[in-house]
Amino acid sequence: MQIGVFDSGIGGLSVLYEALRQMPCEDYIYYADFANVPYGAKSREHVRNCIFNAVRLLAMAGVEALVVACNTATSVAIQDIRRAYNFPIIGMEPAVKPAVSSVSDKRVMVFATPLTLCESKFTGLLRQVDINNAVDFLPLQELVGFAEAFQFDNDMVTAYLKDRLKGYDLTQYGAVVLGCTHFRFFENHIRSVFPENTTIIDGNFGTVQNLKNILLSQGNIFHGSGKVTYFTSGMQPIPSTKMERYLHLLRYIENNKPES
Ligand code: DGL
Repeated sequence: MQIGVFDSGIGGLSVLYEALRQMPCEDYIYYADFANVPYGAKSREHVRNCIFNAVRLLAMAGVEALVVACNTATSVAIQDIRRAYNFPIIGMEPAVKPAVSSVSDKRVMVFATPLTLCESKFTGLLRQVDINNAVDFLPLQELVGFAEAFQFDNDMVTAYLKDRLKGYDLTQYGAVVLGCTHFRFFENHIRSVFPENTTIIDGNFGTVQNLKNILLSQGNIFHGSGKVTYFTSGMQPIPSTKMERYLHLLRYIENNKPES
């Protein structure tokens, strides 16, 4: 099975990482739209064009399923790309629902890109799930740039987070939702500014499980070799060493999680 994984940049590698864990025997084409990253601070129309271009190239490359490993791209185009192609297309949305049900009397903080947060997909999700008005949200677009530049310096990132969060009483929060796939790379930084017992939730596990269930129901799984090839805008190849650096970092983050 040839699976496409698509993001504006390196954020979707956090989804690819999970996919390789749950489905190590498929073949993957990872597409990072580096010519157009970041999506989150651009106009909806511009981002939609970028997405349609990328998905057209992935379809031509023969993907049989696609993960839109980007909350922003999902917000602005998932319905329309599903209408245009007949292979399974799995999108992502901020995992607000599990976060709300995991906190009892505490609040939930959602971090995402500005475009995700102002789209009707997100506002509709909040209307449906945030019955008690317990959810706050904050755009953290700069984290996308830091991740793309492989800038994970503790002091710099935590200073940025603290500045964005000043004015919020962080002890009120029981859960933080990572509503942008780039933010997974900052899980430890985010953990360090919130109180110790705050849960950090992303949608990666659920998204991959979703895909796996669809492929299982089609009997179309476990037919590959676990090969990953990386491409950028216009289907230009990317050296795998650049991307593997990020996958190593994800492994490090996972291995150094505090005990829960
Ligand atoms: N990784 C993306 C997301 O999940 C988008 C980041 C960006 O390009 O601004 O929303």
